[in-house]
Amino acid sequence: MTVTIVGSQLGDEGKGGIVDVYGDAVDVVVRYQGGDNAGHTVVYEGDEYKLSLVPSGAVRGKIGVLGNGCVVNPNTLFEELDALGERGLSPDVRVAERAHAILPYHRVLDGIEEDVKSDDDLEAGTTGRGIGPTYEDKAGRRGIRIGDLLDSETLRSRLEYVVPRKRAIVEDVYDLDIGADVDSEAFDVDILFETYRDFGERLRREGMTVNCGAFLQDRLDAGDEIMFEGAQGTSIDIDHGIYPYVTSSNPTAGAAAVGTGVGPTVVGGGEVIGIVKAYLSRVGTGPLPTELGSVEGQTPEDGGRPEAEDLATTIRDEGGEYGTVTGRPRRVGWLDMPMLRHAARANGFTGLAINHIDVLAGLEEVRVGHAYTLDGEELLTMPPTTERWGECEADLRTFDGWDDADWAAVAEDGYDAIPENARTYLEYVGEELDTPIYAVGVGPGREETVVRVDPVSSR
Ligand code: IMP
Repeated sequence: MTVTIVGSQLGDEGKGGIVDVYGDAVDVVVRYQGGDNAGHTVVYEGDEYKLSLVPSGAVRGKIGVLGNGCVVNPNTLFEELDALGERGLSPDVRVAERAHAILPYHRVLDGIEEDVKSDDDLEAGTTGRGIGPTYEDKAGRRGIRIGDLLDSETLRSRLEYVVPRKRAIVEDVYDLDIGADVDSEAFDVDILFETYRDFGERLRREGMTVNCGAFLQDRLDAGDEIMFEGAQGTSIDIDHGIYPYVTSSNPTAGAAAVGTGVGPTVVGGGEVIGIVKAYLSRVGTGPLPTELGSVEGQTPEDGGRPEAEDLATTIRDEGGEYGTVTGRPRRVGWLDMPMLRHAARANGFTGLAINHIDVLAGLEEVRVGHAYTLDGEELLTMPPTTERWGECEADLRTFDGWDDADWAAVAEDGYDAIPENARTYLEYVGEELDTPIYAVGVGPGREETVVRVDPVSSR
């Protein structure tokens, strides 16, 4: 049996916390896309762990797997593993040999392209981790896979092909000087070869690499429960998101099969849980019809709601809406129902986990973008182009607010202890998406989650 956890908005919905709560009953937690752009915060026994690559279940002693759909920076991986080791944890993490490796030149090129695009306000506001350039090389059949790091000859020949081409892009396309403008070590075949061969040796020494699909199928056959942990969110999916302000992978549930090597029937035969934040947050540029206030450098010139700056600051501060990876302030807005309807269809959610209702406590009124008006017509889902999405005006519905509460006590007492107005809000979302609410997050801690259905342990 499998459980797939998917972000239903723009990332940062609090997936790590839900993975942690439901992860108790699973044996293996697998990431199927993305890389060290993820930024998952896990609070466990009062300690906070910030992870960008290691699957969050690994904090709780599960086997963590980075699937073939991931892009893996071995440097980040070992840094995170060593830091967890210093805190007394010894996570068991495996990496698919088919996953692609992020190399230093990918990060450099990510930065250069964002810089150039920013002249025309076209930058995606990336995390700068080299995610896009690594997926480009994967699709361009010039990538270096984790399995290649275990084979010196293959590694050397791949680097000898690709590095001169990367140098040419920097020098001839962007007109930059390697050494003066950009770090020369990132473009030095010998240095890259030695560094990545050493990473390969450590991966081999520690028995970390796997043939992902076969490994997972063996575990399923042995009766293990598997969780697929999506990173980012549906609206920054490269196919289903607000292109080009997207990440370069597929956070949507279909990728749990493609990105790990099990069949779609395996994923579809299990549960697919959509993680929803009770309001909206966004890192990066591009339109956001329900945005409150604005964030300089990210909100488009004619976007946001300047009159709601104080409200935006309150939500941002209460919700800690600052990037886990980058520390940047996130843009915030009211819940966007067309975005959620789009996510529910694209992922086929079987259940919802709605987080952060405590953050909205104390507001007199809480609003949601129930629909859009586009060209004078009501629209219940997202239009296919981001330009058209930018033309959508959100039709807001107003709900009565709810008071602050002793949220730890609420979590203990269960769903009926949630303030009535908050339940009205939650039930509206569940009904609109025709999906049952499995869990409600009422605070950042693991104990601060109201669990109505635990899809794994209730089996
Ligand atoms: P990249 O994934 O670093 O290439 O960034 C592409 C876009 O995805 C940017 O708008 C990022 O801010 C956004 N993004 C990437 N990872 C996350 C995440 O974990 N949470 C929220 N946004 C993200």
